[in-house]
Amino acid sequence: MTVLVAGGTGRLGRILVRSMAADGERMRVLTRDSAAADELGARGIETVIGDLRDPEAVGRAVDGCSAVVAAASGFGPMGSSSPQNVDRDGNLALIDAARVAGVEHVVLVSMHGAAPDAPLELLRMKFAAENALVTSGVRWTIIRPAAFLETYLDVIAQPMQKRGATLVFGRGDVPVNFVSVVDVAALIRLALRDAGPSGRVIEWGGVNLTLNALSDAIHSAAGHPGKTMHVPLPVLRVASVATRPFSPFAARVTSAAVEMNARPGAFDAAPERARHPEIAVTTLAAAIAAG
Ligand SMILES: NC(=O)c1ccc[n+]([C@@H]2O[C@H](COP(=O)([O-])OP(=O)(O)OC[C@H]3O[C@@H](n4cnc5c(N)ncnc54)[C@H](OP(=O)(O)O)[C@@H]3O)[C@@H](O)[C@H]2O)c1
Repeated sequence: MTVLVAGGTGRLGRILVRSMAADGERMRVLTRDSAAADELGARGIETVIGDLRDPEAVGRAVDGCSAVVAAASGFGPMGSSSPQNVDRDGNLALIDAARVAGVEHVVLVSMHGAAPDAPLELLRMKFAAENALVTSGVRWTIIRPAAFLETYLDVIAQPMQKRGATLVFGRGDVPVNFVSVVDVAALIRLALRDAGPSGRVIEWGGVNLTLNALSDAIHSAAGHPGKTMHVPLPVLRVASVATRPFSPFAARVTSAAVEMNARPGAFDAAPERARHPEIAVTTLAAAIAAG
């Protein structure tokens, strides 16, 4: 059984691929990056170099696979990738190619808050992909992770070395649910098992925390009180519009930051976590220690 991992070079994908490789699982990674493909190849991991927006590459990628993990995203600073052409259209192409190739199971990494009328475009694009998967006729599992703990820790800690301070977008006092990528990778692996969860939309969270709490934890791990710099909310609001013409990525990030400060992103992850007690919750302290 070969599993295609689209997005296998991303933050989540790297953890997933490492964990599958450690257990000798057969997999193939789709990436546009030939250097990343070389590095994976050197570790004995099969790769297909290609873009989710290229139907021929997608067809080659799924060929002979029994399962597909759709974990790519066009949200990041990825050239011309975008939520529309990767999170929606790329995933639609992947799901259709999987159906045509007779792939048995597609695990889609969506996002908490995915909805047809969500305020953020990314969440609307994720919902469109979810909808396509559910109606594809292929066995499916949809995972909606909360915000990735490690991603936000990195963003907040980024200025630490140069300025000795952390950076929080907005007031940072609204509780948000954060989940470790380690726990998301573990759930994907569970879903890939024959008896794993399928035909379900899984809201997969960790702990409810504020951005300020992440910042405080970074300072205490560094062993000193340290300063937290804040980008004021009005600045973020203006930037989310003003940056659109020349940096769609900056516009996406600042829009997401405005949203994160505007409405509580906290939810009770306990009921879903209780269904999968074999996956322990990675704590904030553990994520910081893992670095
Ligand atoms: N970050 C969060 O807080 C968060 C929260 C919930 C859910 N998620 C979801 O979790 C998944 C993983 O997120 P992440 O933050 O780990 O991702 P990431 O680090 O931003 O990596 C993005 C991945 O997408 C791939 N990609 C981008 N454009 C592509 C294209 N046109 N064709 C093929 N591949 C393309 C990249 O591969 P190459 O560059 O190698 O081609 C890379 O592997 C995504 O689906 C994301 O939406 C993220």
